[in-house]
Formats: sequence, C-alpha cells, structure tokens
Amino acid sequence: MSKIGERTHYCTELTVDDIGKEVIVKGWAAKRRDLGGLIFVDLRDRTGLLQIVFDASATADFALAEKVRSEYVLAIKGKLRHRSEDRINPKLKTGMIEVLCTSAEILADADTPPFAIEDADSVNEMIRLKYRYIDLRTDGMVERMRLKSDIMHVTRNYFHKNGFWEVETPYLGKSTPEGARDYLVPSRVKNGSFYALPQSPQLYKQLLMIGGVDRYYQIARCFRDEDLRANRQPEFTQIDMEMSFVNQEQVMDMTYGLIREVFKKCGGVKLPKNIRKMPYDEAMARFGSDKPDTRFGLELIDISDIAKGCGFQVFERAVANKGGSVRMINAKGFVKEDDLILSRRDIDALGEFVKTYKAKGLAWISVRKNGELLSSITKFMSKETVDAILSRANAEAGDLLLFVADRNDIVFKTLGALRLHLAEIGNLIDKSKFDVLWVVDFPMFEWSDEENRFVAQHHPFTMPHESDIEFLESDPGRVRAAAYDLVINGEESGGGSIRIHDRALQKRIFNILGFTDEQIEERFGFFVNAFKYGAPPHGGLAFGLDRLVMMLAHTDNIKDVIAFPKIQNASDVMTQAPTPVDKKQTEELGLKVVEKI
Ligand code: AMO
Ligand code: AMP
Repeated sequence: MSKIGERTHYCTELTVDDIGKEVIVKGWAAKRRDLGGLIFVDLRDRTGLLQIVFDASATADFALAEKVRSEYVLAIKGKLRHRSEDRINPKLKTGMIEVLCTSAEILADADTPPFAIEDADSVNEMIRLKYRYIDLRTDGMVERMRLKSDIMHVTRNYFHKNGFWEVETPYLGKSTPEGARDYLVPSRVKNGSFYALPQSPQLYKQLLMIGGVDRYYQIARCFRDEDLRANRQPEFTQIDMEMSFVNQEQVMDMTYGLIREVFKKCGGVKLPKNIRKMPYDEAMARFGSDKPDTRFGLELIDISDIAKGCGFQVFERAVANKGGSVRMINAKGFVKEDDLILSRRDIDALGEFVKTYKAKGLAWISVRKNGELLSSITKFMSKETVDAILSRANAEAGDLLLFVADRNDIVFKTLGALRLHLAEIGNLIDKSKFDVLWVVDFPMFEWSDEENRFVAQHHPFTMPHESDIEFLESDPGRVRAAAYDLVINGEESGGGSIRIHDRALQKRIFNILGFTDEQIEERFGFFVNAFKYGAPPHGGLAFGLDRLVMMLAHTDNIKDVIAFPKIQNASDVMTQAPTPVDKKQTEELGLKVVEKI
C-alpha cells in the first residue's frame, strides 16, 4: 500500500475550480525538468498530463524527485495551485494548473523505455508492437481503447433496452461455413479430432432462435485464417445479433438504429434517420463495387452498345462474349495542359495499376483544352463512334476517359478499384463526412471458377427472394437473396440476412451448392435436424466492431483499434505466438510435427 494514500483524482479531472485543494494523483513520469531547487515532472495517467512541482523549500521528499526518470511510477500528494504566468501551457487541458508536491513516493522505477511515448508516432510499428504495453500509454491508443469501450457499452445498453439477451456461444465448436479457413484446436481426449474456432456465431445464433431466445446479441470474437489486410485481423470482434418473427426491414431498422446511437453517443456524429437502399446490381453498375463509396462521382459508364462493331477488336471481342462488357470512367478535369493532374506517364502507371485486377489493358482518350484528342484507341474507330463515346461520357476539355473491356466481374473489380485510386489522386473525398447506405438484393450465388460450381455469396442459410425461388434450379445466377450490408464510407461495416427456416428449401440450396446428402449430414446434420423441431422465421446481422471503431477514430489501420493485434503473417510480435510447443504436449494430442514441405 502506498504511504501517500488513496488517489483523489485522475490527472486531468482537476481544474481551476479545485485550486487550493490537497490532492493525491498517481501515474507515470512523462517528462522531467531539473532547474536546481525546482524540479518539474509531467505526470501521466490514462486521462492525460498534470504538472507536478517539487520545490526544495516545500517538498519533504525533494531528494526523491532527483531520482525520478521517464516512466517511473509515482504517487504524489500536494496542493493544487495556479501556474505562474510564464509556465501556462494553453495546449494542455491542465495547462493553467499544477500540483505543488508536499510528499511523494516512487511506486516503481523503470528502465529507459525503447521509445519515448511522445515520439511514438515516428517509431517503427514493429517496435511499438513488441512493447505494446508502452505503446498503449500514447494518447492515440488511450483514446481508441476508450472509444471501443464506449461503443461496447452503448451497444449493450441499446440491445438491452430493445429486449435482447446477451448469450455466449462456444469458442470450441464445429466448423462454420463463412468461407475463410478455420483455426483448429486439436482434442486431447479424442486424438485426431479437432474443434474449429468460430468464424462467426452464425449456426449457434440460429439455434438460439429455434431455442426460443427470440432476440439475441453478443459481442463475439471471431477467428478466420485468411490473408490479412489493413482492415482484417485473424481474430476480430463482431457485434452479432439475431431476432425471430421479423422481416428484413425490421432487422435493418433495428441494426441501423444501433449505428445511429453509437455514432451519436460515441462520435458526436448525427446520421440521417433514413438512408438509401441500393440494389447490388445498381452498386456494381455505377460504382463497380458492392460496397460503394458514394462520397464522390467518377461513376462507371457502360458503352457496350457502342463497342459492338466499333472497329477496335479488343472492345468488339469483349462484348461478343456472354457476360462481357466495355465500361469507362470519365476522370473529369484530370487532364490539364498547364497544371497536369495526370501526364502520359501517369496514365501508363494507371495501365500498370489495373493489371493487378487482371485487366488486360486500360484504353484511354484525353480531351485537351483546345479540344484535340489524344488516345490509345481512337485510331481504330470511326469519327461517329468516337463522338458517340464522347457524348455518352459528357466529355469536355480536360477530361480523361479510361476504358476496360473484359468479363463483367473483371471490368467491375478493375474500374471499382480505379475509381477509388483516382479519388485519392485527385483528393476528391471529403473525409470529414460519413456516407452510409444499405446495399440490398445481393445475388444468392456466385460462380466460382476455382471450384467450378456455385458458392453462396453470403452463406447457405440465406433466404432467397420469394419471387426468385422458382429459378433456383433453372437459373441460380439470377436468384437474389434477402441479404443486406451496411456500407459506411465504402467499407462493409456489417452484413446479414433473413434465414431459411424451411427444411425443404434449405435442402434445395445445399443441393445447388453441390453438397451431397451425406456431406450435409456430416457437416450440418445437427443444424439441419434442429429445423425439424419448430424453427421460427428469423434473421440477423453482424457488424465488425473493430471496423466501426476505425471509422469513428479516423484510422485505416485495424491494428490501431486492437490492444494486442497480430501482424501480417498472423503472428504476435510481443509474445512471438505462434511458437513450437513441448513434445509432451503434441504427444498428448496425438500429433506429430513434420517439417513443412
Ligand atoms: P460477415 O462474414 O459479413 O458475416 O462478417 C460480418 C462483419 O464482420 C467484419 N469482419 C471482419 N473484421 C475484421 N477482420 C476480419 N477478418 C473480418 N471479417 C469480417 C466485417 C463484416 O461486415 N454470420 C454473418 C453475419 C450474419 O449473417 O448475421 C457474418 O459473419 O465488418
Ligand atoms: P493495343 O492495340 O494492344 O496496343 O491496345 C491499345 C490500347 O488498348 C492500349 O491502351 C491498351 O492498354 C488498351 N487495351 C488492351 N486491352 C484492353 C482491354 N481488355 N480493356 C481496355 N483496354 C485495353
């Protein structure tokens, strides 16, 4: 126990109104200035900084202050007073005040830290992650941890007041079909068998509905062994919910209501009461993406009709193929003679950029100020065709038209990515705004070249649109699903669907996905069986909690919002996990480690 006594305040709780009070504060020494008989220490706790003054003539433990170094942990008792005029720091919340220390105690000393907290921004990320517990003391991390905690708190309140129960579902379970690779946990008592860590609580939450829970939510950790990206971690957290006896609108209203409340209470952001619902087909056709960023234009324009018989073989061939098209983006004002946004070399770089999306090339026409056209393709076409394209694009002097001809999926992927890339280059996005919309009417199935079969776009438990059920077997590609994603600033913040609760329909879906009856029984037997015993109509959604925090914290790195994140190869820099284990452990599990081939 500290001889100083209990803390009376956090550092930045103190204001000028507390002047004259005797206070006890505790925290870390952020900075120390020694002026001989006077020593100043900035004391830091999770709320911020407070200046402590050790005065040789007033502080009983003055000698102790001389020993203090960065990151020593201190208990300080003293009197709150005004700072003298020359020491006022308007940038600091406590910039007007300081504590004149009367007695102090060093609760822990500290080695020189590997980096100074106030310089953390310029420190290599690997060092910060290795010493994450030090990095957590930075303003940014403190703020984001607080934000995440607030969001979880608001979420729990929201669901509680709407009659939802928080129910825990197992981590040690059976593989769920969310599409990523599973993390497996070997069983000791049943050698050769494995639990799968949940990719989501999907199956369990549906079973909870069959169990009569009616309204469920959980802030659930999910595990997916997939390639990491800036917005993906192998373990991440979902705000997961499910409700019974509801339709799609009701689930959407309930979940968007949560987002509005979270944004208002945790970010001071007022989102509109009603937001757009954009059909998937429209999102793809206009933005080349099922998570469109609609904060800027540069929409896709279809010129497949003009491309037919246009004289340029690449275009003609693309539209002659079923499921192929030629589409363009008019990068308005991207060509400027005196002040080029994009030069010829830049256009070549865009040509390289699109190759990462499997596009075979990027055709272009630039309209110069004097009306002259520069282009990689106009030489192949008649003047009428070129005029038709310019007119379709509403092209004016200064515009750069960029074309991709290919299979639709490649055209959309490429132009969707190019559109975002151009917006970055042209600085077209107002990042202070939040753009929120629903994308609805997803296709039920997606053709997979790799597997040579249809796969579920969302998951196989999603309800098809009533009016499309008749096409399930004859034309699966046209069947739309009762699935919906909430898109915020071009990011998928969450997604869900109304589920199938009819056994016969579920079986038809499994069959279209190519599962045999034996496979269904083996993988989902327990689940499918449950539907024999009274499954209510139900639906739900899951938000990516980490992604919501990222949005409100204005960061595009998911590691910023997770206390102990993993790096690219899914390892933890601090603990070094994953690590080899004792032979005894693997033997117990019936495992034999072989060299990786
Ligand atoms: P889905 O797979 O779309 O749906 O996941 C829901 C949300 O979780 C977030 N998310 C991730 N966040 C960080 N890292 C990851 N690797 C990661 N993967 C997904 C996204 C996504 O929108 N069971 C269904 C939901 C349902 O149908 O109710 C599901 O898991 O923000
Ligand atoms: P080429 O005649 O092959 O030199 O192509 C002329 C222009 O068309 C170049 O700018 C190529 O980048 C572009 N191009 C080639 N293939 C495609 C394609 N599939 N879609 C769009 N542009 C293409």
